[in-house]
Amino acid sequence: MEYRVRRAQWSDLERACEVEAAAVRGLYYLRAVADEFFNDQVGELGVVEVDGVIAGIGKYTHLYDGGVWLETLRVDPIYQGRGIGKAFYRRFFELADLQGVNRMGMYTGLNNLVSKGLALKFGFEVSATYRGANLLLAQHSEELPFVDHGFKLLDEEQALLLLNKKSPCWGQHFVMNRTFYPLNEELFKGLAREEKVYYDEQGDNLLVLGARFMPETALHIAFYAGDYRKIFNFAYQEAVQRQVEKITIVFSADHQKVREEVLAAGYTLEPSDLIVCEWFRK
Ligand SMILES: CC(C)(COP(=O)(O)OP(=O)(O)OC[C@H]1O[C@@H](n2cnc3c(N)ncnc32)[C@H](O)[C@@H]1OP(=O)(O)O)[C@@H](O)C(=O)NCCC(=O)NCCS
Repeated sequence: MEYRVRRAQWSDLERACEVEAAAVRGLYYLRAVADEFFNDQVGELGVVEVDGVIAGIGKYTHLYDGGVWLETLRVDPIYQGRGIGKAFYRRFFELADLQGVNRMGMYTGLNNLVSKGLALKFGFEVSATYRGANLLLAQHSEELPFVDHGFKLLDEEQALLLLNKKSPCWGQHFVMNRTFYPLNEELFKGLAREEKVYYDEQGDNLLVLGARFMPETALHIAFYAGDYRKIFNFAYQEAVQRQVEKITIVFSADHQKVREEVLAAGYTLEPSDLIVCEWFRK
């Protein structure tokens, strides 16, 4: 068998979507994020060809802080177990060396032993465990009166100040669209630039809310601190206004207070934990 790893081209879209559909049940999004993935010139959507046929896809993405997020690694089941996943990791490291990247991260389901094993084989270590929870708007038809909660968007400087102060007890990452962002100043400023950091000064309530991509489908709570009732109610109002299907939050699995608040607000926990694996250049 002859393997070839290369950057994906637009003409690969259909076959890449086929690979995605064959490799995972549900969670298909490649077509929806195609513009962002195929046009990414700093990062790369890669494909592995076996004897001229695309057998796998994988995305290498730069985050706000210059670290890299590995995502959408999918190998067509008929080609699995033949070293294609490893070929992608070698490519990711090649790019990281070329670009002087010092940190890479990925996530997978707690029970996805192949995906985890592959990352650990390449020197990644499990750094955190998370749990997702969702509120489906269709199942939450309660007519709430519109309330002006007083949340305002923060600029970079204000966001930096408040997130630096309030985020240390949250966990290691903010999560949007299953992208786990390590907490740092570049992230805080980037989120503020993209109008995702909200603050209610009177109640001292802080919220990071938005989407990395597919804003038409879900709204993501990446972080909050303060009165959860007020914060979740504001997020709900925003979700109604933006006409999304659901609100998602992913939080540190051992964060008992957040778990209780999320449940009290009517969210449903996802069935199992997610793990984040990270690699740091030594
Ligand atoms: C995960 C996935 C990308 C791996 O691709 P692959 O081409 O099958 O993987 P490879 O054959 O290159 O790599 C196999 C490596 O995985 C690891 N691995 C495989 N089975 C394992 C197991 N049961 N336990 C631990 N590690 C295991 C090993 O490190 C192995 O390498 P080795 O045999 O040299 O030690 C592929 O299985 C897939 O597409 N799965 C469905 C989608 C998915 O889960 N994506 C991951 C992100 S959520």
